[in-house]
Amino acid sequence: MLNAEVAKRRDDAISRGVGMMTQIYADRALNSEVWDIEGNRYIDFAAGIAVVNTGHCHPKVMAAVANQMTKFTHTCHQVMPYENYIRLAERLNDKVPGDFKKKTIFVTTGAEACENAVKIARIATGRNAVIAFGGGFHGRTFMGMSLTGKVEPYKKGFGAMMPDVYHVPFPMGPHGISTADAMKGMEKLFKADLDPARVAAIIFEPVQGEGGFYPAPTDLVRAIRALCDKNGIVMIADEVQTGFARTGALFAMEAYGVAADLTTMAKGLAGGLPLAAVTGRADLMDAANPGGLGGTYAGNPLASPPPMPFLT
Ligand SMILES: Cc1ncc(COP(=O)(O)O)c(C=O)c1O
Repeated sequence: MLNAEVAKRRDDAISRGVGMMTQIYADRALNSEVWDIEGNRYIDFAAGIAVVNTGHCHPKVMAAVANQMTKFTHTCHQVMPYENYIRLAERLNDKVPGDFKKKTIFVTTGAEACENAVKIARIATGRNAVIAFGGGFHGRTFMGMSLTGKVEPYKKGFGAMMPDVYHVPFPMGPHGISTADAMKGMEKLFKADLDPARVAAIIFEPVQGEGGFYPAPTDLVRAIRALCDKNGIVMIADEVQTGFARTGALFAMEAYGVAADLTTMAKGLAGGLPLAAVTGRADLMDAANPGGLGGTYAGNPLASPPPMPFLT
């Protein structure tokens, strides 16, 4: 089979809304290498968009999935729970930055993790508004897309966004935007449009990924923490892309000396299987009523036994 032949079938079968960076069809992968269906070998610098942080087919991940496959693939944790889910939650509660009692929920995608973090912040505070940053990326669902600070290609043509989501500038040195500019943007927002007492959460990426790989300056992260403390706002660190050693430490927030109240994770969490999580302050995480959080595949047993080898 040739890549070009499959590419033609792809054009006929798949919506063009699913953008593609290459027309190189994967056949197999191992560690940092991928082979296409024509037998060509590549070094994989993409890692499935920052997912297979320990390489393709890490033996510990493969063995854990293979073992789970012989037992069961799905019961739905909300119907008949399994210990894997609890064990992984305990590990995240222990490892996610923050010197306070934590709890965790599992979902399936990074967008869902961000959505759920906002839901948790809203129910815990009884407030509605959310502040995010220009250039930020938080997913393609309606709340994810609304939080995302890029119109093209994520929002264009998709109609009205979720109400009560506001964007302020993110510091980007090469574009001449400083932390002072970002905080001025926040001040302007509070003067012109939004009472800080109505803000449930501020969400940010410790390193913007889709926005162009801009690390959040330490003074920005500390200013967000101070603003949240002053106004009773929930600080959400979106570590979907930065988590699981992408920046060297297990979590990027370890570099800042302050902790977020809620942390969203996905991608590297399960070495290529669809798993996402929100971990955070136990009092916030317990605010939702039973049934308000979760999902049919949330914390699927095939994805939850092989946490990143760093976590085992
Ligand atoms: C920081 C960040 N948040 C959220 C998401 C959305 O994750 P998913 O594509 O799994 O929904 C991404 C995906 O690239 C991301 O980089």
